[in-house]
This record gives sequence, C-alpha cells and structure tokens, in this order.
Amino acid sequence: MQKALFDNGIVWNGDALAVLRELPGESVDAVVTDPPYSSGGLHVGARQIDPARKYQKTGTMKVYPAMLGDLKDQRSFIMWSSLWLSECWRVARPSAPVLVFSDWRQIPAMTDAIQAAGFVWRGIVVWHKPTARPMRGAFRRDAEFVICAAKAPAKAFTTRCLPGVFSFRVVPGDKVHLAGKPIDLLVELLAVTPEKGTVLDPFLGGGTTALACIKTGRRFVGVELSPEYYRVAGDRIRAAQGVGQTVQ
Ligand SMILES: C[S@@+](CC[C@H](N)C(=O)[O-])C[C@H]1O[C@@H](n2cnc3c(N)ncnc32)[C@H](O)[C@@H]1O
Repeated sequence: MQKALFDNGIVWNGDALAVLRELPGESVDAVVTDPPYSSGGLHVGARQIDPARKYQKTGTMKVYPAMLGDLKDQRSFIMWSSLWLSECWRVARPSAPVLVFSDWRQIPAMTDAIQAAGFVWRGIVVWHKPTARPMRGAFRRDAEFVICAAKAPAKAFTTRCLPGVFSFRVVPGDKVHLAGKPIDLLVELLAVTPEKGTVLDPFLGGGTTALACIKTGRRFVGVELSPEYYRVAGDRIRAAQGVGQTVQ
C-alpha cells in the first residue's frame, strides 16, 4: 500500500478497513470523517446511479474523478459501517470525539452503526448549505448532518460554547471532489477535538480534514481508496504545508 508522509501527518492510498486494521490501538485523539453515504433512494437501482448524477445539481458542468464505495444497499451499508467504526473505536484513545457526516436518509443507519461500534452518541450538528437548489412542492434539502459521538469516558476538550448549526456555502471553484466539504466547516468542527491532537479520517477524499488540521495545528492520519483523490489530497496538503515524501 502506498502512503505519503507529511510534516503534520500521513495519508494512505488503500481500503479504509485494511489500513485501519494496521494502525496501533489508542493512537489517535479524534475521528472526523465523511464516508460515502450510499444514499439516493429506497431501492438498490436508485442507489447505484453514478454518484456524479446522484449528488450533483442538474446542469453542473464540472467533472470530478469517480467517488468509490457509494453503491451499498442498506444492510451492507450498516454492516460495513459497523466494521470500520469498530476499528476506529480500537484506534481511538479514551474520550476521543467522533464526528461522521451523513445525509438525512442515512442518519438512522449511521447512528446505529456508531453505537454498535461502541461509541456513545452525543448529538447531531447541522451543516446548512445556503446555495442548495430550491425544490418545488417540497422542503428545500439544504442541510447535511454531522453525527457527534465519543469513546467513553466523556470529556470536553474545549470550554467554548459552540453553535449547533453552521452555514457554509459550497464554492464550486474551491471544490476538488464531488462531495467535497468546505475547509472552514471542518475547522469549526475540529474545535471539539484535542488541541495539537491527531485526527483520523479514513475517507479523506480531496484532503479537507487534513487541510483543516494543518490550519488548526493538529496532526492527521488519512486514508483514501481512489488513487486520483489520494493524489489530489497529497497535492493540496503539499501546497498547504510544504513537501511530502511518497513511500511504498
Ligand atoms: C464523501 S467523500 C469524502 C470527501 C472529503 N470530505 C472532501 O471534502 O474531499 C468519501 C471518500 O471516500 C472514498 N472511499 C470510498 N470507499 C473507501 C474505502 N473503502 N476506503 C477508503 N476510502 C474510500 C471515496 O473515494 C471518497 O473520496
């Protein structure tokens, strides 16, 4: 498996579950991640539509590398999520916060999997997307969610009073990934993780979590299955912090 070492962290190109199984127990201070949602409909046929069609506005011209791992049906999604989250539980230090992105459809599945893995579910944060398209005859789907949990025992790593809703636009020009999240959103979310701690993101995509770690003085351990996104994440990290070294 390829990995790239940086001043502030490491990124693996491989399958999350396989890499997580190699990581030492109790070696990270937080898990912050945005897995494939395997969402988009009630039936397998609807889920298996290309994510570029499922998750992008009609008429959006930008073409991104394929997003992998988005085709699971509901039962396998819950089982698979329980597997990788259980590995995250093993790798996380006691009291580590866990933040997992989800859309509205997958909240029940993901909160089940998080608890099955051993974490304590603490709440949900809303990411409000002011530029989401209006929907005639329906409520606008202008939010995604971040499920907040922690490994026991409970401990707060900040004394700040934090909001429960964050409003950040997706800026098309800044986006390098079909499902890319705004860096400033991740910076805000990292407030609940230990200062100078190491943050694990097993689904790194274009590297947003790593960039937010660099911005806030934290370290990162990232995993990305797609060789294209592994390269994109590495390039962005290098641009943000200096030269990285690729190791076989
Ligand atoms: C929702 S995206 C993450 C986007 C990221 N938050 C960003 O802002 O760029 C999920 C990522 O997980 C990757 N992925 C899918 N299955 C994976 C697996 N089994 N192991 C590691 N990465 C995987 C996909 O290729 C995709 O880039």
